[in-house]
Amino acid sequence: MSAQVQDDLAPLPYRRDPACPFAPDPELARLRREEPVSRIRLTGGSEAWLVTRFADARQVLADPRFSSRLTPIGVVVPPSQDQGLSEALQSRQPGTFIEEDPPEHTRLRALVTREFTTRRMRRLQPYVEAVVEEHLEVMAAAPHPVDLMAAFALPVPSRIICAILGLPTEGTYDFAGHTRVMTDVMSPLPELIEARDALRAGMREVVRGKRRNPGDDLLGRVIRESGDSVTDEELVGIGNLLLVAGHETTAHMLGLGVLALLHHPDQADVLRDRPELCDSAIDELVRYVTIPHHGELRTATEDVRVGDVLLRAGEQVLVSLPSANWDPEGIEAPDTLDLTRPPRTHLAYGHGVHHCVGTPLAQLELRVALPALLRRFPDMRCAVPYDEVPFRRSNVTYGLHALPLTW
Ligand code: HEM
Repeated sequence: MSAQVQDDLAPLPYRRDPACPFAPDPELARLRREEPVSRIRLTGGSEAWLVTRFADARQVLADPRFSSRLTPIGVVVPPSQDQGLSEALQSRQPGTFIEEDPPEHTRLRALVTREFTTRRMRRLQPYVEAVVEEHLEVMAAAPHPVDLMAAFALPVPSRIICAILGLPTEGTYDFAGHTRVMTDVMSPLPELIEARDALRAGMREVVRGKRRNPGDDLLGRVIRESGDSVTDEELVGIGNLLLVAGHETTAHMLGLGVLALLHHPDQADVLRDRPELCDSAIDELVRYVTIPHHGELRTATEDVRVGDVLLRAGEQVLVSLPSANWDPEGIEAPDTLDLTRPPRTHLAYGHGVHHCVGTPLAQLELRVALPALLRRFPDMRCAVPYDEVPFRRSNVTYGLHALPLTW
C-alpha cells in the first residue's frame, strides 16, 4: 500500500478519551488495531502518515532515513493568505537542534549534553529541593482553592531552567507567555510569529551580555569552551530550545501527574511511602500520562516500509506517543497506572538521536517535587469536579490551564 490522494482524511486526534482524561483518544486505539499506519490531515491542511503502534513508533524515531531537517516549518499551523507571514514563518533559527539531522544535530547537541549528566543533576539537587520548598510555602500560605499550575507547577521548572541557562528570572521578557502562544497549534499566525520573534529577541539580548561577560552557567560555559566556533544566533537557538522545552513540559507533567495521583489514591500512597520505588514510579507516571501528543514531524528521505505500508520519499510522518505508550503489544495492561511495575522502556521522552536531552532534569524535578507535595499536603484534593478541570488540549503537549486544589 502507498499514499493515495484522499479528501476525507481524519484530523490528527488531539483529544483524550472523554471517559478518562489520561487515556489517548479512542480513535487512536482503533487506528492502532485496524490501520496502524494511517493517513491524517494536519491542522495546516497538509497530509501526513500517523504511526500508532509501539514497535513502529520506535522504528520511525530511530531510523536515520526520516529527517527532522527537511520538514517545512509551520505545516501543523493553519496556512496564511499573507505571503509575508508565510515567509516569516519559514525563517529557521540556527542552533535549534531538534529540527536538525546529524552531523549538524550531533555537533549542536554535544554542546549541551554534559550539562544534563547524572553527576550534574546530583549537584543541582539541593537547588531543586530549595525551589520546591519555597513554592510549597507559597501554596501553604495561599487562599483556597490554590491553583497548582500558577503557584507551583509552572514557576518551579521555570526557575530551574533559568538558573541552568543563566537567565535572570525577574524582569526578563515574558518567556512563559510567548511559549504558550508558540506551542498552541490554534494560535493565529501573526501572534505565533510575534511570540517566536519576541523569544528570539529576548534570548539575543541575553547572549550578547554573556559574550561580554560569560558567567558560570550553561550558556556561559558553552561560550567559554567553544569560542567563535559557535555563533551568537546558534546560541539563541540552543538557549530558546532548552528554555521552551525545559519549563512547559515538566510543568504540565507535574500538573497532570498530580491529577492522575488524585484519581488513583492507592498509587499516591506508593509514591509517598515507598521512596525505594521512586525512580521507576515516576517513570510509570510519565508513561501513563505521556504529555507530548506526538513527536516532531519527520520527512522520509527515501522509500521506507513501516509495518505493512510503504512510505514514499518526501512524505511526512508523525508518531503518536500516547498511542504507542498505551499499545498492549508494547506494554502489559497499559491502561493501568501501576507505580510498582518494574522499570520498562517507553516513548514519552522520544527515542533515537532526538531522545529528550532534558530527561535527567525532568526526572530530578519530578522525583523531588511530587513526593514533597504528597507529604506536605496529604489531604490534597481537587477543588472542582474532574469534568470541570480546564484541560489544555490544543498545545503540542497536553496539559492544564489550572488545577484548583484544596486540603
Ligand atoms: C526532545 C519529551 C522535559 C529538552 C524531546 C522529545 C520528547 C520530549 C518526546 C523528542 C521529540 C522528537 O524526537 O520528536 C519531554 C517530556 C519532558 C521533557 C515528556 C518532561 C516530562 C524536557 C526538559 C528539557 C527538555 C526539562 C530541558 C532541558 C529537550 C530538548 C529536546 C527534547 C532540547 C531535543 C533533543 C534533540 O533533538 O536532540 N523531549 N521532554 N525536555 N527535549 Fe524534552
